[in-house]
Amino acid sequence: MESTLLLIKPDGVERKLVGDIIKKLENSGLEIINMRMVHLTQDEAEKFYSIHKDKFFFRELIRYVTREKIVAIELKGKDVVRRTRLLIGGTDPKEAEEETIRAICGISKTENTVHASDSKKTAKREIEFFFGSRNIHE
Ligand code: CMP
Repeated sequence: MESTLLLIKPDGVERKLVGDIIKKLENSGLEIINMRMVHLTQDEAEKFYSIHKDKFFFRELIRYVTREKIVAIELKGKDVVRRTRLLIGGTDPKEAEEETIRAICGISKTENTVHASDSKKTAKREIEFFFGSRNIHE
């Protein structure tokens, strides 16, 4: 069965939106199979977001994701990568589709409350990053 990774980022934790976001995931029929709260170090954040290392917003992104704890959630289900991306909406909360998590909760393009893997391949890497390669649910 397909899995994906969702992160509740610092602005979501700071504004106590963790419960609301988890409720939205569960109400959408997505199954939570693993969850962990972690305060990323600068080095860990740079590794996780290494694909963006040459982008103009990289430094701001690393400062943001390391300023408070985040919640990493592994979700399982049919077509879960695509379904989770639809549920969170586009990167910029102002342009995200109505009723999506980012449209409702996001503050700015950087502080957009949640992250979700963009493909099955990325999901595998990102799940391993937070939960290790030996996944007890497999
Ligand atoms: P995320 O889905 O976690 O993936 C990369 C993150 O970089 C993104 O969410 C935002 O937090 C941030 N980001 C992406 N594009 C921009 C941008 N144009 N300006 C600032 N931050 C951005």
